[in-house]
Amino acid sequence: MKFFIDSADVEEIRKAHAMGCVDGVTTNPSLLAKVGRGLEETIREICSIVDGPISAEAVSLDAEGLIAEGRTLAKIHDNVVVKIPMGVEGVKAVKALTAEGIRTNVTLIFSANQALLCAKAGATYVSPFVGRLDDISQDGMELISNILEIYQNYDFDTQVLVASVRNPVHVLQSARMGAHVATLPYNVITQLANHPLTDAGIKKFLADWEKVPKAAK
Ligand code: E4P
Repeated sequence: MKFFIDSADVEEIRKAHAMGCVDGVTTNPSLLAKVGRGLEETIREICSIVDGPISAEAVSLDAEGLIAEGRTLAKIHDNVVVKIPMGVEGVKAVKALTAEGIRTNVTLIFSANQALLCAKAGATYVSPFVGRLDDISQDGMELISNILEIYQNYDFDTQVLVASVRNPVHVLQSARMGAHVATLPYNVITQLANHPLTDAGIKKFLADWEKVPKAAK
């Protein structure tokens, strides 16, 4: 299973990359607004840190605009994957960009039928938002299970990129279901490393180490 980091904060990306678990990066307009930096300069810097798929989002509302933006974004770096908002216009843009050899990640997926359409159009990734579904009392992880089942039934190449991940349980369930990728906020990545029994164990070992006779210098 691949881990992407869901961030436009280059310092967070560097820290997570140093842990050896970052296979790619996803960004979106909200994450860029949070760091207050422009799209192109941020994507260029991220591409200099992580050698893997880096999603940069197009924002046009029609296929023509999305295709034009996608071509421009893809020229920034070979690792750029163009993030396309789901919808009729988005799916048309995916078909056209795929035909040009440009990789796409369809974002804001909330139903298995949306994911099915994206796979038929040739999307590289679909991003179902599990946390936002949980927020409205729907089961986000059930959507992942449904999409994986459909993709397996028909041998689609499109990869399921679990997005809007809020906690380590989402990560565990994604891995057990065999999702291809999960994109994780930095705080979820660090949560994966921690356990209260690990902390207690380290504290005890340090306390006992103080009692161990040390060789004279
Ligand atoms: C990633 O591609 C998505 O944009 C992101 O995971 C959305 O997460 P959120 O629902 O926490 O904003």
